Amino acid sequence: MITIDGPLGSGKGTIANALASQLGWHLLDSGALYRLVAIAALDAGLGPGDEEALAELAARLDVQFADSGDDQETKLNGARVGARLRSQEVSAMASRVAALAGVRAAIVKRQQDFRRPPGLVADGRDMGTVIFPDAPLKIYLTASVEVRAQRRYKQLKEKGESVNLSRLFRDIEERDKRDRTRRIAPLRPAADAVIIDSSELSIKEVLAKIKHLLEEKDISI
Ligand code: C5P
Repeated sequence: MITIDGPLGSGKGTIANALASQLGWHLLDSGALYRLVAIAALDAGLGPGDEEALAELAARLDVQFADSGDDQETKLNGARVGARLRSQEVSAMASRVAALAGVRAAIVKRQQDFRRPPGLVADGRDMGTVIFPDAPLKIYLTASVEVRAQRRYKQLKEKGESVNLSRLFRDIEERDKRDRTRRIAPLRPAADAVIIDSSELSIKEVLAKIKHLLEEKDISI
């Protein structure tokens, strides 16, 4: 069990994906779960103030993910959600619904059920602190806001979304603040997490660091 937590744009999704595929382990992209709750909420016309209805919706959400982490295979109620999963509208709503205790409680067990042999790589904000507190290897991946905004900008551009870098910067700061200061499961490194700052590191370099940590724990890759 490996957990990778960190803020948006720290590279945790890419790293978790690569690790899961190299180890042949399962993958949990917990942010995608909150994003699907957000999509279902937007479609149902619910706002962040409708906590009870949102919690109910989260509890009975019918979702499907591929271990490859391929967004194209992500389904909500049997239908592919496609590029909408990572859109700015859905990102903003996801961070709002994720701040609600009822919503978080409704999907704890669903996340823990992803833990199956031969192993699981789980990425998110509270994987090491709340959902899998006994994970033997916990990584907290971070990077400066500037670097994260640039990465997100490139990602969204490649997907054909029209984006404004300064707005993106502000959005990221706002979302970071919300994730870090919320009462329930705030974004923070677990006491026993290894902190990696990826601002100046390539994906390959981050992976090399994690592989080294895995070797120290006798997990071969
Ligand atoms: O990681 P990603 O950007 O896809 O997550 C979407 C939103 O879901 C984040 O803004 C964060 O607020 C929330 N989230 C969370 N706990 C997690 C994963 C994501 O609160 N474990």
